Amino acid sequence: MQVSPLTAKLRDDFPILKRKINGHPLVYLDNASTTQKPNCVIDALVNFYEKHNSNVSRGVYTLAEEATEIYEDSRESIAKFIGVADTGKIIFTRGTTESINLVASAWAQPKLKTGDRILVTEMEHHSNLVPWQLAAQTSGAELLYWPVNLESGKSGTGRLDLQKLEETLKDSAKLKRKIRLLAVTAVSNVLGTVNPVAEIVKIAHAYGVPVLLDAAQAVARMPIDVSAWDCDFLAFSGHKIYGPTGIGVLYAKNERIAEMLPFQGGGGMIRQVDRQTSTWADAPQKFEAGTPPVAEVSGLAAAVEYVLDVGMPEIQQHELELTTHALKRLAEFKDLELYGPPVTDGRSGVLSFNLRNVHPHDVAQVLDESGIAVRAGHHCTQVLHKRFGITASVRMSFGLYNNTSEIDHLISALDQARDIFLV
Ligand code: ALA
Repeated sequence: MQVSPLTAKLRDDFPILKRKINGHPLVYLDNASTTQKPNCVIDALVNFYEKHNSNVSRGVYTLAEEATEIYEDSRESIAKFIGVADTGKIIFTRGTTESINLVASAWAQPKLKTGDRILVTEMEHHSNLVPWQLAAQTSGAELLYWPVNLESGKSGTGRLDLQKLEETLKDSAKLKRKIRLLAVTAVSNVLGTVNPVAEIVKIAHAYGVPVLLDAAQAVARMPIDVSAWDCDFLAFSGHKIYGPTGIGVLYAKNERIAEMLPFQGGGGMIRQVDRQTSTWADAPQKFEAGTPPVAEVSGLAAAVEYVLDVGMPEIQQHELELTTHALKRLAEFKDLELYGPPVTDGRSGVLSFNLRNVHPHDVAQVLDESGIAVRAGHHCTQVLHKRFGITASVRMSFGLYNNTSEIDHLISALDQARDIFLV
């Protein structure tokens, strides 16, 4: 098997990659869904439960102090990782979905009035659409869509047109329809498109519109710098960046945090509780009711350390090489339709496609017989799939442990799928 120097070093860190599936070595190409875990992350979880398990911010005994230190030190590492100096802006949640729901309930909902608008794009994951539909339905606000380009061409398809954004913002201002928020993904979980987030934020801010960035796909694929991006909110999940499930992050700017009401009530988020009313703890605790996922937080901090050790620029370069190879190999199929930019410029290693006249589930099943894991379906983006005139697609998505031989293996299995279904 031909492996890049980066991958060769790292594959041994991931025990699951030693598994055989249907008699073949596992080829895991569903990293947009979730990533596999290195030993250091698994060890962090075991270490917490074996040596430090206790609740945080509640006890004065040694274990409780250790657990609190692990929890808060992890918050600091994660803050640094996304370019934030003040840990008060880092709220732990269960994942991207909960982070976005938190913003919808605790920040948007109390502000929204009939006639207001929330701007989203057609490439959003359901987790960055449905919370806004719910907020719009309860408040009488309108959900407005920034369309995705469909025209093919060197780099056109699957991208967002900044001029269209500017027009929408201008029109709304003219109509005196307040856009309360622009919610946009940094990287599409289907098209692989990398959106120019810093430019998007700049344009939106020029019209006084705050921006929420869904960084679920971006976080493992590129360096994140919220200070440079200047977004108001940023959400991501631990499990997409080689960390545990059940842990996510919401970053919010100070001025937005000040505008946020409590999300859930309970222990840990209060300052004082009286019979009828309560007062709140400062952020981030104000938004972290109940016993937090301390082990998962320590696992996420281990994952962040791991990718920093490998190097985010190196990971990005590796993904670029894999994407270049995949685009070249997929182009050999004359009956294959790729959704998203056909060039590596401004795209990442998430590639969705269909073989003409073969159902994506059939393709995925044949690939599984060769040990290859890809996702088939609508990938939680039904609006986007409908825009492309399809209901489902096959998706391969890379992680830092993948290599070009695995892509070649998938290409051979795709050939087999075509032979089986297109007789
Ligand atoms: N967000 C995950 C995906 O795109 C579940 O597959």
